[in-house]
Amino acid sequence: MRAGLGGLLAALWLAVPVLTPAASNDMVARGARGVVVSQEPHATAVGLQVLQNGGNAVDAAVATALALAVTHPQAGNLGGGGFFVLRMADGRTAAIDFREKAPKAAHADMYLKADGSVDQDKVQFGATAAGVPGAPAGLLLALQKYGTRSLKDVAAPAIRLAREGFAVDQFLAGSLAEAKQDLGRFPSTRKVFFKDEAPLRQGDLLVQSDLAETLQRFADKGFDGFYRGRTAELMQAQMQRDGGFVTAADMAAYEAKERPALRGSYRGHEVLTMPPPSSGGVCMLQMLAMLEGHDLKAMGYGSSASIHLLAEVMRRAYADRSRWLGDPDFYAVPQDGLLAADYAKARMADFDASRKGPVQPGLPAGGKESEDTTHFSVVDAMGNAVACTTTINSTFGACCVVDGAGFLLNNEMDDFSAKPGTPNQFGLVGGKANAIAPGKRMLSSMTPTIVLKDGELRLVLGAPGGGRIITGVMQTLLNVLDHGMSLELAVRAPRVHHQWLPDEIAWEPMALSADTRGALQQKGHVIADRPRGIAQVFAVELRKDGTRIGVADPRSGGSALAY
Ligand code: GLY
Repeated sequence: MRAGLGGLLAALWLAVPVLTPAASNDMVARGARGVVVSQEPHATAVGLQVLQNGGNAVDAAVATALALAVTHPQAGNLGGGGFFVLRMADGRTAAIDFREKAPKAAHADMYLKADGSVDQDKVQFGATAAGVPGAPAGLLLALQKYGTRSLKDVAAPAIRLAREGFAVDQFLAGSLAEAKQDLGRFPSTRKVFFKDEAPLRQGDLLVQSDLAETLQRFADKGFDGFYRGRTAELMQAQMQRDGGFVTAADMAAYEAKERPALRGSYRGHEVLTMPPPSSGGVCMLQMLAMLEGHDLKAMGYGSSASIHLLAEVMRRAYADRSRWLGDPDFYAVPQDGLLAADYAKARMADFDASRKGPVQPGLPAGGKESEDTTHFSVVDAMGNAVACTTTINSTFGACCVVDGAGFLLNNEMDDFSAKPGTPNQFGLVGGKANAIAPGKRMLSSMTPTIVLKDGELRLVLGAPGGGRIITGVMQTLLNVLDHGMSLELAVRAPRVHHQWLPDEIAWEPMALSADTRGALQQKGHVIADRPRGIAQVFAVELRKDGTRIGVADPRSGGSALAY
């Protein structure tokens, strides 16, 4: 808590009702002071209101994250984890790691069936799929070290949204309908998200009383209000009922970590991003280093030459991802070797502009991911910036609500390599570096990123999208920095993706014309048979004239607000 002006603002803040989002979503917002961009309009409005009431970007980010835990249950969470990359106006930078951890009872073969195959149900659904949640601890760490408001203040809007309810929008209704079978398996989930044995529909009021109480305990007691006492007991009870592995002792032992933000550069810009246990930062910086020697602008956006180059770079980086990346607390990730300039050069030594070549993981010195994660970006009037990506892995995580606590379990254990060398549900292959071990964090692709030019903030961005997050974020950067697109166009522009295995170029509608597909096939590429979405980017750009522009990806139901 802050005394004086801070205390007064906090009191005013508590008195202000939760903003109602605009009737139609605002995907682009311009202002001169603060900007919030998130995947759900109530949550964006909560963040903006914190800024307008004098909170800083970290206060607003924590309030937005907690609101998303209520209004965007597909991915917003208390029961999951994520990453914060932040840069304060005074130049301090940090990466807050609140990735879930494997419980103490975990072991490398825990998801293997007697025939040696992976038990997909056990690793994806219900209590057995869950890792120890990290979100409450990480948000608290960020707030206590870099925020200016109390947890009670920033949690108040989320508690109100959970207690009083909000109208289900078309996006949540669509997700609930799509996941009906999986969600319907769990009585505790049906209690929250179903009415008359069917998922809630657009316009229904979603009230989450148990979640409100869980948030209240967290707001009142901080770490102990979630990781000890009633919430930890409810979590353990759910595990015991359903054969899960997380114990009350695992909850009490959870620790979020502050790590140095990963730093790289691209065409004279400084790039701050997430280090392992995310693969996102290393993989994206590797790709940028491989691209730096090529004139993408001259090739032109969408040309077969530029897409061939992107695909070849992506294949190399994702092959290295599967071989070398995992939790650095458990595995000696050769981060410096992977990011060394001469390694990027060596990786591209066999690049052939006329055809696709063979790619295997390289030798530097020294998983599964979901489509449904969520990202938000916040900049405040002072110039503090937060890029935060958070997840429960699949849409609605393990689909199982902790009975009495009201939050969905994550199924993040599926982001480990349940069987090294075997592709996960998203086709990503992992190795020893990402094998399961007690207390270890599973590899992620989340890529919250901040870009600076000459020490000034330029871009804040990130995305949900599983293994496609990294390439989605990178192409948005390339669109702005190489192709000179406006942020709005850069976010909208169709994207491509290659993750080494499966060995094919994935593409979005309009990304590849028929003759571009033909030209790429002639170079030896396989093109995915159907186009599919590649990540959803939520970004802020700071222009030289002082304008700040927030853009929510039109592929989503999100919104941008500014003042
Ligand atoms: N579960 C998505 C990720 O961490 O990359």
